[in-house]
Amino acid sequence: MLRLTDLTVSYGERTALAPLSLEVPSGQLVAVTGPSGSGKTSLLLAIAGRVPARGEIVLDDRALRPSDIALVPQGNHLARVLTASENIALPLAATGTADPVRIADAALHTVGLGESGNHLVEELSGGQQQRVAVARALARSAAVVLADDCTSDLDGANREKVLAALRAEARRGAHVLCATNDLDAAAECDAHLALDEGVVSRVR
Ligand SMILES: Nc1ncnc2c1ncn2[C@@H]1O[C@H](COP(=O)(O)OP(=O)(O)O)[C@@H](O)[C@H]1O
Ligand SMILES: [Mg+2]
Repeated sequence: MLRLTDLTVSYGERTALAPLSLEVPSGQLVAVTGPSGSGKTSLLLAIAGRVPARGEIVLDDRALRPSDIALVPQGNHLARVLTASENIALPLAATGTADPVRIADAALHTVGLGESGNHLVEELSGGQQQRVAVARALARSAAVVLADDCTSDLDGANREKVLAALRAEARRGAHVLCATNDLDAAAECDAHLALDEGVVSRVR
């Protein structure tokens, strides 16, 4: 179980996320929706430890570790002068993972970019870049997968591919949170948390 207790994010005077408590079981894909500025990114970055937050984050009754987390950041954060494959394989190699290139290529294949591994990121379209960022997270086989707005630049077919990949992550036992503006996508998730001005307005 991934357990958030009174997780709170403030930037100076501004509260981006009011105290939020949530339990995400292993195997569950949770959609986080809400208008722009409602706190979706703040929630995911707080779980990832990328913004200062108060409250408690526990995975299976211990503190969550950076190595537990795979984040697809809003904006993708890819190195433009590296290839798609290198963007995925280099971080794996840096943490001592065996066969990083093979894992990178398999992840690219999952998001429909099996032929694009050797392309520089700057040669790829926005949608292709978004799928590379998703593949980089898939390649980590992490316990917690945090996908921030990771279908915004995709056409219908690729959106389905990415959602299927996130569902597969949940099926192998990951705890998956997916921030999105896409209510159809949210309806297909196991649970749905709607945020409004940093406050949970609806939970399914
Ligand atoms: N680094 C920051 N510094 C100050 N305010 C921020 C920062 N990041 C986000 N905010 C503010 O926090 C609120 C929530 O933003 P965010 O979490 O990015 O929402 P969403 O992802 O739903 O669009 C917004 O009012 C936004 O302007
Ligand atoms: Mg956001």
